[in-house]
Amino acid sequence: MSGEALRIAVIGAGKRAQIGYVKHFAYVQPKAVLAAVADPNPENCQLCLKYAGENVAENVGIYTDWQELLAKETSLDGVIIATPNVLHYKPAIACIELGVPAIALEKPLASSPEECRDITQLARRKNVRILLGFVLRETPFYKKIKELIVSNAIGNIISVQADELVGINTTIVMFRSTWRRYTNLSGGSLLEKCSHDMDLLNWLTQSRPISLNSFGGRRIFQPNPALPDHCFDCPVKQSCMYAETKPIDAPDMANACIFNIESDVVDHQSVQIAYENGVVANFLMNFNAGHKSSSRSISIVGVKGRIWGRLDANQLYHLDYMSGKLSEYNFTNVHSGHHGGDVRHVESFLRSITGDASKDTSNAYDGYLSAMMCFAANRSMAEHKQIHFIYPGNDEILLS
Ligand SMILES: NC(=O)c1ccc[n+]([C@@H]2O[C@H](COP(=O)([O-])OP(=O)(O)OC[C@H]3O[C@@H](n4cnc5c(N)ncnc54)[C@H](O)[C@@H]3O)[C@@H](O)[C@H]2O)c1
Repeated sequence: MSGEALRIAVIGAGKRAQIGYVKHFAYVQPKAVLAAVADPNPENCQLCLKYAGENVAENVGIYTDWQELLAKETSLDGVIIATPNVLHYKPAIACIELGVPAIALEKPLASSPEECRDITQLARRKNVRILLGFVLRETPFYKKIKELIVSNAIGNIISVQADELVGINTTIVMFRSTWRRYTNLSGGSLLEKCSHDMDLLNWLTQSRPISLNSFGGRRIFQPNPALPDHCFDCPVKQSCMYAETKPIDAPDMANACIFNIESDVVDHQSVQIAYENGVVANFLMNFNAGHKSSSRSISIVGVKGRIWGRLDANQLYHLDYMSGKLSEYNFTNVHSGHHGGDVRHVESFLRSITGDASKDTSNAYDGYLSAMMCFAANRSMAEHKQIHFIYPGNDEILLS
C-alpha cells in the first residue's frame, strides 16, 4: 500500500467492522489501510484482516485489549469503534482524550444518558470529530427526501409517519445474538435497532423533540413451555418462520427457539414525538414482519405537498398539491449494505479525517439526541407517562 493511505484502527472486530467498514476500504477514496485491530476474540481479528483484503498495513497490530492498542499505536489517523453498545463509552472517551483525529463510533452513541453527555461534551472540548454510524443518512433514498425538504418542495412539514417493520434476518439477529437480546447489554430494541430512525426523524424535521410518548412490550416472542428449547425436534418447526434461521453474527444460535430463548427486549414499540418546530411524528417498530414487504417506510405531509416511500423498494414519490404533479424516484446505486449507505458512510468517515468539519454527515450531538429519545421512550413505556426534553445549554439534554 502507498505510504499515504490513512492508518485506521478497529476496536471491536465483529460483523459490523468486517462487512460495514474495512471491506469497503477497497472501493473508497481517500485510501485507507487497517493499521491495527483489537478484539478479545482473535478469530474476529483475523476475519477483519481478511475482509480488509489488500488494504492491511504491513506491520498491522493485532491486540486482544483495546487499551494496549491505543498505547502502542501512536500514528493513527482514525479509529472505528464497533463494540457491543455497552462497550462504546470507554474506548470512545480514551480516543477523544488521546486526540485521535476522527472516530467512527457505531450507533447508538452510548448506553446511558450520562455516557452520551460525557462523550458529546468531551469531543466538543477536545475538538475531536465523531461520525455516528447513521448510515441511513447516506442512502440515496433518505438523501433524496432530505434534498426535497431542504429545497422546500413540500413547504413546512406538518407530520411524519415512519415504520420499521423488521424482517426475519434482522429479527433473528436481535433475538438470538449473544448481547442484543439483553437490555443491560444492548440498551433494548429501540436503542439498538431504531436509534437510526430517531436520528432520521430529527435530521429530516430539522428540529429537536420537546416531548414524547411511547407504548409497547413483548407479545410475539413469549416463552412457550410446550415447545422445546431447540428447533431440531420441534413439532411445529414446519410452521415457524424463525426455525433454523442463522443470525449473521451468531450462526451457532440458529437452532435456539426464538420464543424460549432467554431475552428481555421488547418486540414492538411505538413512539409519538412533538417537535420544537411544531412537527408531529409517529414511529412504529415491529419485529414480526416476515420476509416480503418488511421495510422502513415513511410518509411526510407538508403544507405544499407530500413525500412517501418504502426503503426496500428503493422508490420514492413526491406530490406537489397545487400542480398535481407526481414525481417518482427510483434508486439503483444501492449495492452495499444498508441500501448503499455503508460504503458512503466509510467514505464520509475517511473524508472527515482531513476535510472540513461542517461537511461531516453527523456528530456526537446527533447521536446523543437520538439515544435520549430511546431512553425517554423506554421510560415513557415503563412509567406510562409523557416525557419532556429540556435543553439547558452546554450540549446537555435532560428528561423530565
Ligand atoms: N450502523 C449500523 O447500521 C449498524 C449495523 C450493525 C451493528 N451496528 C453496531 O455496531 C456495533 C457492533 O455490532 P456487531 O453487529 O458488529 O456485533 P458483533 O457481536 O458481531 O461484534 C462485536 C465485537 O466486539 C467485540 N468485543 C467485545 N468486547 C470487546 C472489548 N472489550 N474490546 C474490543 N472488542 C470487544 C466482540 O468480540 C465482537 O467481535 C454495535 O454497537 C451495533 O449496534 C451498527
